[in-house]
Amino acid sequence: MDDSKKAQVHAYWNNEQHDPATIGTSSIGTGLPVEFLYRTIGELETLRRYLPRAPFSMLELGCGAGRWAMALGRSLSYYEGVDMSGQQIAFAQETAAKQKLSNIHFTLGDIRNYTPQRQQFDVIYFAGVTQYLDDADFEAIIRRNLPYLVPGGIIVERATTLVGERRYVRDESGYWCVYRLNSEIIAAFEAQGLRHVADEQSYTFLRRPELWRSPELSFFASWGLKNMPTAMHAVMKAFSAGVNMHNDAFCHEGDKVYDHRFFIFSIGDNVT
Ligand SMILES: C[S@@+](CC[C@H](N)C(=O)[O-])C[C@H]1O[C@@H](n2cnc3c(N)ncnc32)[C@H](O)[C@@H]1O
Repeated sequence: MDDSKKAQVHAYWNNEQHDPATIGTSSIGTGLPVEFLYRTIGELETLRRYLPRAPFSMLELGCGAGRWAMALGRSLSYYEGVDMSGQQIAFAQETAAKQKLSNIHFTLGDIRNYTPQRQQFDVIYFAGVTQYLDDADFEAIIRRNLPYLVPGGIIVERATTLVGERRYVRDESGYWCVYRLNSEIIAAFEAQGLRHVADEQSYTFLRRPELWRSPELSFFASWGLKNMPTAMHAVMKAFSAGVNMHNDAFCHEGDKVYDHRFFIFSIGDNVT
């Protein structure tokens, strides 16, 4: 990516017209506010299956507005998040202060050259960010951060992927993205000596968006997800799983079929 393109991408992620709390989190799901609430609970449920026993330390590269730090909260003994969007970092810092979360640090920076303040972490997390890196940067960023993983630690990659053929998106607004295949993601981490431990659909995708668009149902679901998250999420998840049992795809766009997954990697024997 040349410098003018990088500047355009940077501007995209700083664009004030987006709400920093939800930016980048609903682009190809249903895009509904209620989906954002539902999705975070579902993703967290999946993620927790792989995380070490609390408290653990985490480095998050491309942390956005800090939704993972907030969601994991007191499970974190120490957390560092870095993102190139000043708007989102400011929002994250403000939220962490309001929630009185200590040991949570947000830094404005580019993950391609960020040096963590701490020596090592139990978990290194990429949530929806490597698709904004070209292949060379993707490879370099894994290599660069490996020394910051404790022995026995894990790297979590949560990515939107494509089935069949990778796809590049370059749009005028500065949105630059590459949707890779699941096999390409696994190969990129394995090439650095990491062991592929598991991968799994990130959450039960919300089905029948037209229903959740109705003001009454959307109000009820949003209220439920905020006030009785476990129960409301379970109901919505059961509904979505039941509606379309044979369709695992995150979404279809013409002939393109998207997936959305967690990939878990640990240090393999051949990493020095
Ligand atoms: C889809 S959002 C995900 C945010 C967060 N991880 C989450 O799951 O809510 C992608 C984020 O990656 C950030 N990003 C993209 N390229 C980056 C780079 N080179 N350095 C730092 N942040 C970057 C964007 O600013 C944006 O906040």
